[in-house]
Parts: sequence; C-alpha cells; structure tokens
Amino acid sequence: MISNSIQKTKDIAKKFAATLQGGDVVLLSGELGAGKTAFTKGLAEYFSIEQNITSPTFSLMNVYPIVIPNERGDISHSTVIPSEPRGDEGSPSGDNWDRDSSSAFGLARNDKVAKFIHIDTYRLKNAQELIDIGVEDYLGTPNTICIIEWPKKISELLQNKKTIAVAIEHIDERKRSIAIAK
Ligand SMILES: Nc1ncnc2c1ncn2[C@@H]1O[C@H](COP(=O)(O)OP(=O)(O)OP(=O)(O)O)[C@@H](O)[C@H]1O
Ligand SMILES: [Mg+2]
Repeated sequence: MISNSIQKTKDIAKKFAATLQGGDVVLLSGELGAGKTAFTKGLAEYFSIEQNITSPTFSLMNVYPIVIPNERGDISHSTVIPSEPRGDEGSPSGDNWDRDSSSAFGLARNDKVAKFIHIDTYRLKNAQELIDIGVEDYLGTPNTICIIEWPKKISELLQNKKTIAVAIEHIDERKRSIAIAK
C-alpha cells in the first residue's frame, strides 16, 4: 500500500488493527523516520488509547491498558503504567477468552485485548535488558498485543510467537510504502 501522509499511515494502521488478536506481535521495520511510530499511533487510536504514544526510546517499553467497553457500552479511562521491573505486577491476569461467544455477541474479534505494548529496541544493548523489565510477561500473552520497532535486535525473543511483519519504506518526503505480511 502507498501512504501519502501521516494521516493515511494512521488510517492504514487502524484498518489493520481490526484484524489483530491477543497474543499477536507486530514487527515494524523501516529506517529512521519511516513512520513506525506514526503507524503505532494509528493502532493505538483503534484501541481507543487516549495517551499520546511517544517513542519509548528511553523507557524501551511502554504498557498501555486498553479501554474495554463494559456491558452497557460505557468505557473506562485507561492510564499509562510506566514500565517497571519484573516481579512488581506479576503476570498479566489470565483471561478466559472465548472467541466463539465473542462473535456470537457481535463484538470485534479483538475485544478481549486488554493491553497494548509498544517496544522500541533502537537504543537497546541486548535482549536481556528487555527481559529484565518483564517483556516476557507480554510477548505472545493472549490478552496482549505487542508492537515492536526495530525487532531484529530481539529476534531470539520472538521465536515461537505469532508475529506479523509490517515493513514501511521511505519513498519520498511524504510518500511511504507499507507492506503487511501475515
Ligand atoms: N506518509 C507518511 N507516513 C508516516 N509519516 C510520515 C509520512 N509522511 C511524512 N511523515 C513524517 O515522517 C516522520 C515519521 O516519524 P516516526 O517517528 O513515525 O518514524 P519512525 O519510523 O518511528 O522513526 P524512528 O526509527 O526514529 O523511531 C514524521 O515526522 C511524519 O510527520
Ligand atoms: Mg519510532
């Protein structure tokens, strides 16, 4: 696909977000300034994350709870949980998610996704740094979607995970090509 604006990149991301399921790990590749964070902002918008998605360059990993509509359709406001060392929070709560009953109620296929994780490995020295802040609690976890900028650095952590590669290429100042490989 071709994007001619940051808004179009976000729109492409939003459509793609509707196809995601808990446990999916999205690998965003592309040079500096390609639009990986812009794409992530589009994904976050789809999940109604109200916080501004910033590049987690210094924190390495940002955890955003997803607003889940309750039975009456009200939504609660989410808050940013800063990345914290493992052990503090324990594992993400187990989720009994039953896709068949979800679709019976006409809900989106990703309605049980409760956490959105944004990782940027650009300044990461090694995978252990991410392990130390608890990344393994999130990668491939059924109620969680992970988005990773510069994923090659942590390829050993991504084995046996359901990964979806999104490659963004800089064509000119405003033009990007976006390829999604399921
Ligand atoms: N079609 C487009 N899609 C996305 N971004 C675009 C587009 N055209 C211009 N831009 C600009 O390109 C930049 C993309 O920045 P962004 O932070 O998303 O890149 P990135 O791939 O995350 O970079 P980094 O590797 O530094 O994290 C923004 O300044 C944005 O305004
Ligand atoms: Mg970025």
